Amino acid sequence: MSNTFEPEIVAFCCHYCAYTAADMAGSKRLSYPPNVKIIRVPCTGKVDAIHIMKAFQKGADGVYVAGCLEGDCHFKNGNLRAARRVQRVQALLDEIGIDSRRVEMITMSAGMGERFAKTAREFTEKIRELGPGPVKAAERDFGLSAAG
Ligand code: FES
Repeated sequence: MSNTFEPEIVAFCCHYCAYTAADMAGSKRLSYPPNVKIIRVPCTGKVDAIHIMKAFQKGADGVYVAGCLEGDCHFKNGNLRAARRVQRVQALLDEIGIDSRRVEMITMSAGMGERFAKTAREFTEKIRELGPGPVKAAERDFGLSAAG
């Protein structure tokens, strides 16, 4: 694996918890890799399988969905719905030969800046070890490029 590979990570972050935790990590000057691109969502329950797959199609090497702790979702059970969708996407990835560890569901509270930073670091390292995601691998192997 090339040492120059810098994974692109998409993190769908709930406004009420993970996004606020990211803010807290920033204000505490906790470092986390710039590889992680945060997409703020009102609740992880709004993240559908198609959004995750679209992130991969656009070139993401890994995707995680970060929502409120169990029982703390502001929309009752959006985080539980998101967790089920992530499981379905993992199963789909496995089925089509893509390592399902490239997608993950994570929960945290708004005060968990350290957890946000640690998660971002660990997930980035895991994806770095897995190597380029499906689109980049296709580009490398077959000269295909992502469209749209
Ligand atoms: Fe945070 Fe639903 S409001 S996961």
